[in-house]
Amino acid sequence: MTGIRPAVPGDIDAIMAIEQTAFDPERRASRRSLVRALGSARQIVMVCESAGRVVGYAILWRFEHTWRLYSIATDPAVQGGGVGTGLLEAAIAAARGGGARWLQLEARPAPALTNWYAKHGFRPIATLSDYYGPGDDAVRMRLCFRRDVQRGRQPAPTGTSTAKKKALQGGPSAI
Ligand SMILES: CC(C)(COP(=O)(O)OP(=O)(O)OC[C@H]1O[C@@H](n2cnc3c(N)ncnc32)[C@H](O)[C@@H]1OP(=O)(O)O)[C@@H](O)C(=O)NCCC(=O)NCCS
Repeated sequence: MTGIRPAVPGDIDAIMAIEQTAFDPERRASRRSLVRALGSARQIVMVCESAGRVVGYAILWRFEHTWRLYSIATDPAVQGGGVGTGLLEAAIAAARGGGARWLQLEARPAPALTNWYAKHGFRPIATLSDYYGPGDDAVRMRLCFRRDVQRGRQPAPTGTSTAKKKALQGGPSAI
């Protein structure tokens, strides 16, 4: 059986294992950052469990109006099987249900990834130069929930770049 649930501290090893196989070394969060995410009142960590095994996770940061999807990853052994979509939909539902005006993320400008987010309603709002490192840009994407915001009255994007480690410590996202 497959389902999505809030993460608990005991999930840390499984989340770390996914982090280390799904991301390139320079984009991996440290165990310390992930432990902090699990204990933070501002962060929501959710996992997808299948047959008793954690196969994916997502981390959200919630602020007053802006919620941020900081990280989402699926065990490479099961990528392409719908886990990521389930997590993304759960993240969107959490943000919408939590009163967010919009859900924002930063992603590698890889078409497979940005098109996937676009399919779920995210629109590019900025390109962040050198976000992941020199010459390694990111695209910031936003999914608006409020109709007045969708009509174009959204504020200018804030924040610039750093790496995922910093994101999980309270800085901008690095996904
Ligand atoms: C992006 C990711 C979370 C998708 O998870 P998944 O379980 O493979 O997702 P699903 O099976 O639900 O759907 C796959 C969709 O993701 C898209 N996708 C984006 N990047 C992908 C990748 N590296 N591998 C497979 N699918 C990818 C596919 O095009 C597909 O789109 P579709 O719905 O139009 O067919 C997963 O590929 C992953 O963990 N990638 C590495 C970490 C990463 O880049 N995370 C996102 C930014 S932090």
